[in-house]
Amino acid sequence: MIIRPEQANDQDAIASIVAAAFAQAAHSRQTEPAIIAALRDAGALTLSLVAVGAGEIVGHAAFSPVMIDGRDVGWHGLGPLAVRPDRQGQGIGAALVREGLDRLRASGAAGCVVLGEPDYYRRFGFRNDDALRYEGAPAAYFMSLSFTGHSPDGRVEYHPGFGAE
Ligand SMILES: CC(C)(COP(=O)(O)OP(=O)(O)OC[C@H]1O[C@@H](n2cnc3c(N)ncnc32)[C@H](O)[C@@H]1OP(=O)(O)O)[C@@H](O)C(=O)NCCC(=O)NCCS
Repeated sequence: MIIRPEQANDQDAIASIVAAAFAQAAHSRQTEPAIIAALRDAGALTLSLVAVGAGEIVGHAAFSPVMIDGRDVGWHGLGPLAVRPDRQGQGIGAALVREGLDRLRASGAAGCVVLGEPDYYRRFGFRNDDALRYEGAPAAYFMSLSFTGHSPDGRVEYHPGFGAE
């Protein structure tokens, strides 16, 4: 299995595995493929990584810039993250997250936030931080990982593409 940035002809396969992954997710409004398309159209997909096994796309991770108190201070958001249902639980999601975080760090980013299951994201170093607030979800599900040792205070806003339907 390899992890690589998306290419132009990957877009349909990404949309279809993302839709399949979120089809059964209780917390989802099934807007994730539209969100990824909106981020791509806006040039706001900082990173769009695919996992490819046996020539097929089986997983996808998106990263996009977030604002903190209305300012771009080099932080990004991870998500949506999706693995094709028949390939879940094989480490593909973890490989996508680790590769994405390595690439963000290498590019000089300051940190990354994520909204999701704390038990899953803690393994990558994400932690709850009272100083970095997100108003759209309970605080326990919002986590951050600083690449610099310093975390800003403030209110986090995702890209407007997350409003896509
Ligand atoms: C969440 C998801 C991306 C994880 O990818 P994956 O390739 O299946 O996960 P991995 O193989 O890397 O990791 C498996 C581990 O994660 C755990 N895990 C998977 N989903 C989890 C969840 N929602 N909450 C807590 N733990 C979870 C598994 O129990 C397993 O734990 P273990 O390593 O202790 O045995 C995938 O299950 C998925 O696409 N889910 C549907 C879409 C979704 O909910 N995306 C995340 C929200 S943005």
